[in-house]
Amino acid sequence: MCGIVGYLGTAKAVPVLVSELKCLEYRGYDSAGVAVIEEGRLRVLKAAGKLANLESLLRTENAYATVGIGHTRWATHGAPTDKNAHPHTDSEGQIAVVHNGIIENYRDLKDELISKGCKFASDTDTEVVAHLVSTYYHEDNDMLKAVMTAVRRLKGIYALAIMNVEEPDTIYAVNHHYSLTVGLGDNESFLASDSLAYRQYTNQMVRLDQSEIAVITKNGVRLYGFDGAEASRPPTASDVNAFVADKGQFKHFLHKEISEQPVVLRQTLTKYMPDVNKPVLLRKADTASSGSAPSAGISLTNMQLRGIERIQVVACGTAYHASLIGKYIIEELTSIPVEVEIASECRGRKLLVNERTLTIAVSQSGETADTLAALKDAKSRGSFTLGITNRADSHLAHLTSNLIITQCGIEVSVAATKTYVAQLVSFYLLAMFLAEERDAVDPGRLLELKKGLMLIPTLQEKILGQEEEIRQAANKYKSVQDVVFMGRGFNYPTALEGALKLKELSYIHASGYAAGELKHGPIAVLDEKVPVITILVPGKVYEKTLSNAQEAKARNAQMICVSVEGDQNVHHTFDTILTIPPVDEFLSPLLAVVPLQLFSYFIAEALGKDVDQPRNLAKSVTVE
Ligand code: F6R
Repeated sequence: MCGIVGYLGTAKAVPVLVSELKCLEYRGYDSAGVAVIEEGRLRVLKAAGKLANLESLLRTENAYATVGIGHTRWATHGAPTDKNAHPHTDSEGQIAVVHNGIIENYRDLKDELISKGCKFASDTDTEVVAHLVSTYYHEDNDMLKAVMTAVRRLKGIYALAIMNVEEPDTIYAVNHHYSLTVGLGDNESFLASDSLAYRQYTNQMVRLDQSEIAVITKNGVRLYGFDGAEASRPPTASDVNAFVADKGQFKHFLHKEISEQPVVLRQTLTKYMPDVNKPVLLRKADTASSGSAPSAGISLTNMQLRGIERIQVVACGTAYHASLIGKYIIEELTSIPVEVEIASECRGRKLLVNERTLTIAVSQSGETADTLAALKDAKSRGSFTLGITNRADSHLAHLTSNLIITQCGIEVSVAATKTYVAQLVSFYLLAMFLAEERDAVDPGRLLELKKGLMLIPTLQEKILGQEEEIRQAANKYKSVQDVVFMGRGFNYPTALEGALKLKELSYIHASGYAAGELKHGPIAVLDEKVPVITILVPGKVYEKTLSNAQEAKARNAQMICVSVEGDQNVHHTFDTILTIPPVDEFLSPLLAVVPLQLFSYFIAEALGKDVDQPRNLAKSVTVE
């Protein structure tokens, strides 16, 4: 949440900062701003709303400064207005600060600073940092000491970039349990929350440690702990490819990313399961452990894998829904008990993990603060850890030596789609891998499932070929106020994910339920105005799910289903039928979600919503 950038060099800073911010807009788009130092003066330019608003403002400015910091905001403290946009300055306009995270003790600090005469101009927690650094700086004109003294007084987790007009050749960056990287070019340096931001300029980077201050000039970077001890780390080559966001023939990234799902799955399957007759290739290659960049694969020994008594999964949002399906898959194939926790609910609790537990953190960005905190907690309690992420360069990837990297490429649209199915397929592969290592499943059944998994990309393509029918169905329901999604077993979490996609894309209220749970209360909301979407796949819970749908129909709800082609039972019960090809119930979540993603997309599009950047959201949620 929020993106920080910086530049020092010989080029004009503003265009570089804007190009960096464009790569980070996924982290928040409530406002954007830059601060540059020009002719011994600090110039702060900022605008509420998307980066495009700042760009319009900058068009009339001719800033030629070669040093600056910038920010894209997801509002936490203070409304998303011009005045609350970053950068923030001290009372004299000498020190500028951009910030990611939350300063938890900002109220106390603000009172203290006001009593000393500081004039506050915003409602943010960030502004205290500018005044605090300024106060300490004016004690003895030592900026590094001022930053160090200030950060020792801050509570919370955060990242900062700070400039002082009296030191126009330096940017001070602070990382406290966040992500911040310095890019080193030829006579120029960059700063960004995500190295993707400057990847087009350099691939040499230094990642800041957990509690570290970086003093950056155009010739390099010096690193200090909060205790003042200097650290030294050579730059590493970033393994992130320069990324150009391109919608191709599509109107929205979301639609493009939904359409890419078969390709993404093929890539993941080809990498980890090139031959169904051989074991799943999740083991880390022997050569992979050297060097500092994280590498994909599992390094736990067969003995360690056999000794695992429980699996704890931690995740948020869509990744949490993928994890709930992961629980069903792993339990079915390995009989290892699996618990799934919403990562933020692990905070302040005793996480019951130990050295016979495997804790799995699932996060497409690999930067979600709640998920990282839960993983760190589990690790400190002796649990084995494993990460499933789409970003090999993320914080999560650096926290564990057991990694499954999904092969999605960057997901631009804020609502997760292709990374969700890639997380699901990672769980299938992991369950198969564990089942093989522990001899936990009948080899005939395993081979049947592996073959079924290999067919999924082609079956998804068939669903994508039915887009027009799904668009028409979506048009029928675009004016409703509330929607209920329900499913059982493997597709209960599909119902949760279907509801989340509809909510975040169209802003229509939607809830997902275990179909058997409807009668325990939620059924009270049903009447002829409420569509109920049932996920109905032949298998162990088919009849019971159909009965639950009948119960909803008896309350006059508008009935929609996702069912398999050729199912004759559905015509009596449902007004609208979205179909998927016949599939093993075990693998069906990989198909059932696709019509639901498209359904939500077409409704949002018909309503004219901001599909790729829904209001109030951010792609990377780095506050707790
Ligand atoms: C919904 C969505 C979010 C994320 C959640 C976790 O479409 O994208 O619910 O799934 O914020 O994000 P990651 O996976 O980056 O940890």
